[in-house]
Amino acid sequence: MYKITLIPGDGIGPEVVESARKVVEATGLPVEWDVVNAGETVYKETGVLVPDAVFESIERNKIALKGPITTPIGTGFRSINVQLRKKYDLYSNVREVKNIPGIKTPFDNVDMVIFRENTEGLYIGIEEQIDEDTAHSIKRITRKGSVRIAKAAFDYAVKHGKKKVTVAHKANILKLSDGLFLNCVREVAKDYPQVELKEVIIDNMCMQMVINPSQFDVIVTTNLYGDILSDLAAGLVGGLGIVPGSNIGEDIAIFEAVHGSAPDIAGKNLANPTAVILSAVSMLNHLGEKKRAKMIIDSICEVMEEGKNMTKDLGGNATTTQITDAIIEKILNKKG
Ligand code: NAI
Ligand code: MG
Repeated sequence: MYKITLIPGDGIGPEVVESARKVVEATGLPVEWDVVNAGETVYKETGVLVPDAVFESIERNKIALKGPITTPIGTGFRSINVQLRKKYDLYSNVREVKNIPGIKTPFDNVDMVIFRENTEGLYIGIEEQIDEDTAHSIKRITRKGSVRIAKAAFDYAVKHGKKKVTVAHKANILKLSDGLFLNCVREVAKDYPQVELKEVIIDNMCMQMVINPSQFDVIVTTNLYGDILSDLAAGLVGGLGIVPGSNIGEDIAIFEAVHGSAPDIAGKNLANPTAVILSAVSMLNHLGEKKRAKMIIDSICEVMEEGKNMTKDLGGNATTTQITDAIIEKILNKKG
């Protein structure tokens, strides 16, 4: 029996996480969910952003499926997502961006994986108000942080037979911080002679990605660039509703979609649950449950190819519940 921490989150979180829970259960996975919650909703109810029960559950189970959590803009508390990644040293944020058959997009050969450094860079939250009109933010890059994310990217490339890793950086301007990151990636690359290292400056990277995304397979980059690039990449394959993510550390892993809490559509049964369902697929693969993972992916592809149960973001008018039920029906058919 697997014990998995389930964090519904804010906004569309509870709707899409519930959908993913049902889909995983439909595969017959022996699982006991430990449901705990953090974020804005919990804060409004209890005055606490992350109850101790959340930390205790993650530390006990070592694995979590998480919905998005709202972070106030410009003021207020620091991102709980960033806090969790930092606290558990989940240094590898892996985001697989792929075409799904049936979802029409301008490109049809997109298949890339972004390795975003997840614990440092500009997200360490060290900012200083110098005077009323001046603020500073610190970007921290370390050898340890850079080497381990680079290794994660190259190991993935080798394991999956990819010939090239692209590093996205701005070492021409940020000579010390991005310079260190780039040098660490270059050093790591020497240990993987079978994989080519391609270096691209981040602004050019954005342009290349929207012109010819199929040239990229494995990408490694710092925290902020990885955050931005993964939303950009999501836009190439049909949007944030279908792109999953994993936050992986040495012993704890938290699986969550790339998207946020989407307050504009929350509570309306309109959200596309595919991104969180695919994050649950990554979780199943992480657990070694490859057959169940494949069953879900195949079912999603069939539903998308039929096109009858597309949510609004994919050009249809199905609800979250309808697309979920359609996926579950396919899974149950496969199980026979
Ligand atoms: P967002 O990702 O929540 O939404 C951007 C756009 O994509 C919106 O138009 C939204 O409706 C659409 N969208 C996102 N997910 C969708 C889905 N599953 N189905 C259909 N449409 C979807 O980004 P935004 O608006 O910038 O952020 C909202 C809040 O989420 C903020 O408080 C932000 O801090 C938080 N956030 C949390 C994350 C996390 O918990 N990991 C990640 C990103 C943002
Ligand atoms: Mg983001």
